[in-house]
Amino acid sequence: MTDATARPFDLLIRGGTVIDGTRQPRFDADVAIRDGMIAAIGDLSGAPALVTLEAGGKIVAPGFIDSHTHDDHAVLSDPDMIFKISQGVTTVVTGNCGISLAPLKPELPRPMPQSLLGQSGDETFPRAFEHFSDYLDALRRAPASVNVAAMVGHTTLRLMTMDSLDRAATSEEIAAMRGLLVEALDAGAIGVSTGTYYPPAAMAPTEEVIEVCRPITGTGAVYATHMRDEAEGCVDSLNESFEIGRALNAPVVISHHKLIGEANFGKSAVTLPLIQAAMKCQCLALDCYPYAASSTMLHTDEVRLRGRVLIAECEKHPEYVGRDLADIAREWQVSRLEAARRLQPASAIYFIMDEGDVRNILAFEETMVGSDGLPGGTKPHPRLWGTFPRVLGHYSRDVGLFPLETAVWKMSGLTAKNYGLANRGTLALGQHADVVVFDAATVIDKATYDTPTEQAEGIEAVIVNGALTWHHGAHSGARHGQVLTRKS
Ligand code: ZN
Ligand code: CU
Repeated sequence: MTDATARPFDLLIRGGTVIDGTRQPRFDADVAIRDGMIAAIGDLSGAPALVTLEAGGKIVAPGFIDSHTHDDHAVLSDPDMIFKISQGVTTVVTGNCGISLAPLKPELPRPMPQSLLGQSGDETFPRAFEHFSDYLDALRRAPASVNVAAMVGHTTLRLMTMDSLDRAATSEEIAAMRGLLVEALDAGAIGVSTGTYYPPAAMAPTEEVIEVCRPITGTGAVYATHMRDEAEGCVDSLNESFEIGRALNAPVVISHHKLIGEANFGKSAVTLPLIQAAMKCQCLALDCYPYAASSTMLHTDEVRLRGRVLIAECEKHPEYVGRDLADIAREWQVSRLEAARRLQPASAIYFIMDEGDVRNILAFEETMVGSDGLPGGTKPHPRLWGTFPRVLGHYSRDVGLFPLETAVWKMSGLTAKNYGLANRGTLALGQHADVVVFDAATVIDKATYDTPTEQAEGIEAVIVNGALTWHHGAHSGARHGQVLTRKS
């Protein structure tokens, strides 16, 4: 499939085995790139190319799409995005869990979890983006090394329009939020997310969410949700999410599906069949990260502090980062709850899931892979640096949860389909040239709870829109990421 009269390829990946992101079995082929697109796949021996990459014995796959990130700020402040590129990730979906960097006024307070995306006083913090288009324009002016598909957060819309968050929005406030959502969608937001689990949105009733999100109806934009309850009330929360999706006639993404707390261990046996049944009647997707510990803001209620809690980030007491909350409490001779109060604001890692559930959910056919990584700090949850190689090396190869073709699909083709990312997520002629080359025998995450920023092994090369961005463990300096919109 090569045209001898055409000019040389920009990049030729030679001698590799292609896993194309559709779940089809692998096949041996060369892959050629020209003008940022996949220009040829097949036996291309002898074809001229400006750069040739030898991939003998390696897998050549579509670049991974991280379906769940909080990289909204990182793509601007840390545009090399090594924690993602080094895993083979070429696209990040931002604006999850109800929080986005835009639209926000600079003077507004940013309560947890909004502050996970940074405080306006931060030295490295970019100016606030009052309009969603400002944010996307900033990214276009100063691209990151990865593509960005951005959602807008309902909690952020609440911050913009409500003077107090501990109540339902009035109809005027709902109308104002709806206006901001329309603006974001027009600018290119690929969806809207909610985080009704978190205090700033917990008082938003189902009706508020539906009325605010009305503008996505019929657009194909997604409704992604960090559900109200992932513990005892998980089934009710799933039903609420399905209901919202049906009311909006919009695709739903259940974010980081999990069951937290010992009392709920094993309940994936209930939730997954429920999700499967709902999928027959409506457009529904879900993602998860491959770890049995979660990470978010440091809570200050007793129930959420049960079990082992590790401090991930803490401005006031950086010396306690990486330490166990129980140890800190002992040292201070106070209760764990009091210690958590004194450490605020902080983020933490919670060991609150069952490995069996993690495996069930990850292995569930329609589950995408999303890191939910929280960039920043010295002791983040290891999912930030390890998610994708961990699924490939640990769960697919070593544990044998599913074939490598399925693993790749869960982090590329399936995700592109669910978020409506055109011409991404598979390796085929005419697709954008987002490509990862990895060694199936050695690929593995190295990030642990003790050494969470350790780079993964076995990711040989990463290409973003045709530009070689990662090669043999080093960043090339290329920043060719694009803003992906529903129209692009
Ligand atoms: Zn979340
Ligand atoms: Cu999240």
